[in-house]
Amino acid sequence: MASKPDATQLVIFGASGDLTHRKLIPALARLECAGQLGSTVSIIGVARREMSDDAFRAELEAAMPQGLEREGFQSLKDRVFYHSADVTSTADIHALQTRLRGLSPSGDANTGRLFYLSLKPELFAKTLGSLAEAGMLAMENRDTPAWRRVVVEKPFGHDLASARTLNQYMHQHLREYQIYRIDHYLGKETVQNILGFRFHNTIFEPLWNRHHIELVQITVAESIGVEKGRAGFYDENGAMRDVVQNHMLQLLALVAMEAPATLDGDDIRNQKVEVLRALHLPDPADLAASSVRARYVAGEVDGKAAIGYLDELGVPKGSQTETYAALRAEVDNWRWSGVPFMLRHGKRMKKKFTEIKVQFRTPPVQLFNRPEGLSDREFRKKLRDGSLCQVRPNILTISIQPSEALSLSFGVKRPGANMVMTPAKLNFNYEDVFQCESAPAYQRLLLDALIGDPTLFLRSDEIDASWRYSDVIIDGWRAADARPISEYPAGSWGPEEADALFEGCEGGWSRG
Ligand code: BG6
Repeated sequence: MASKPDATQLVIFGASGDLTHRKLIPALARLECAGQLGSTVSIIGVARREMSDDAFRAELEAAMPQGLEREGFQSLKDRVFYHSADVTSTADIHALQTRLRGLSPSGDANTGRLFYLSLKPELFAKTLGSLAEAGMLAMENRDTPAWRRVVVEKPFGHDLASARTLNQYMHQHLREYQIYRIDHYLGKETVQNILGFRFHNTIFEPLWNRHHIELVQITVAESIGVEKGRAGFYDENGAMRDVVQNHMLQLLALVAMEAPATLDGDDIRNQKVEVLRALHLPDPADLAASSVRARYVAGEVDGKAAIGYLDELGVPKGSQTETYAALRAEVDNWRWSGVPFMLRHGKRMKKKFTEIKVQFRTPPVQLFNRPEGLSDREFRKKLRDGSLCQVRPNILTISIQPSEALSLSFGVKRPGANMVMTPAKLNFNYEDVFQCESAPAYQRLLLDALIGDPTLFLRSDEIDASWRYSDVIIDGWRAADARPISEYPAGSWGPEEADALFEGCEGGWSRG
């Protein structure tokens, strides 16, 4: 596999959208700046709006952040083009094909094409259909220089049934190795490090199981609400479909998977899918006790008043969509049976952070720091609510954002005559050690798609298994006799009901 793409055209459908301006082009500009793109790669933005190449370039340039992105874009600019087309029109797709041929200096037979579908999900199938009809997806063999690949943005389906239909449709026109289903979380440096950390270091793996781990907690907290212009999309999806079904279940799979035989994409994905398939599917009674859904009401975020979800522009009256989901999930396999995987995601929470906490069991006997005069029951309760956290020695925290770090807490004896244990930490921070910021997720993922490395992209069976689990939760929440949706003030840590999910375990929700 080449480390730099050969003659390639990257065709972005949905070029006037936010993702193109905010993520894709800046990521390509950074690749250009780093010398990883190669002068034979050109970019063709496609959208309905009529626009000249120059107007498109000027629009992108204005959206480019100062720094590497702006510098890279200056050098890339002349290789960026615009083509106006209605993706559902066969005539327009034929015209696009002619344009692409005209723009490929090495000739059609020597140019690889990556089609990036940054479109509304309802347009995926139609666009693929038009491309296939025009013969634009056909590929002689895996190694041809005229390769054709398709990147599909999330959401991949709305539920298991629609994801399967979309998959079947894609497989009518494409081979699996041509399909790159993106989940940008897999492009984050610290997410990739989970595999490295687990399977390069030998000290954790013997402890990485139900015998030594009490619970695993995964948080994706955001302080933003529903972004401008996104309410329609968001309301149809909610926290569960927008973030939990994809990003969070991928994090869970990486934490819980067995070691792959090799670093080959399929070996890694085989192990991830095994975990996703082992997710326990709760029945309605289980679900009520192991999940909380909620939406934010008016509150205060970063010292500023924030409106409630139902008052956001574009949110339909009477919406029942959740902006917060907390789950106590279980992985029913030999390694993890009985270990709660506490998952929590919310919009408009107190602060933005993504983090995984692996909480090791407490010593079987508490020799230290046990306050005198407490009954066993009171003692356990205090351990649970965190007020005796100095008794819990070992938590491994994998911080994914905003800080990219690993820390391991343990207990040490406080100097003095008494035997008092106090918490200490071993810390590793990416920025301090490597003195540079990590590349944005899209930078890595776009390069991988251009050079043909599918490792960090999703396979259809992973998506299938994730929907199988998520559908049970979502359908249970929508059932007529389900508990009504809870509420939490914007800028808070979420609904209090979620604390009850820790029942029987020690500790509570992380505050980052
Ligand atoms: C996207 C969701 O996939 O992920 C957004 O659609 C969410 O609603 C975003 O804000 C979070 O990504 P990150 O990288 O900022 O954690």
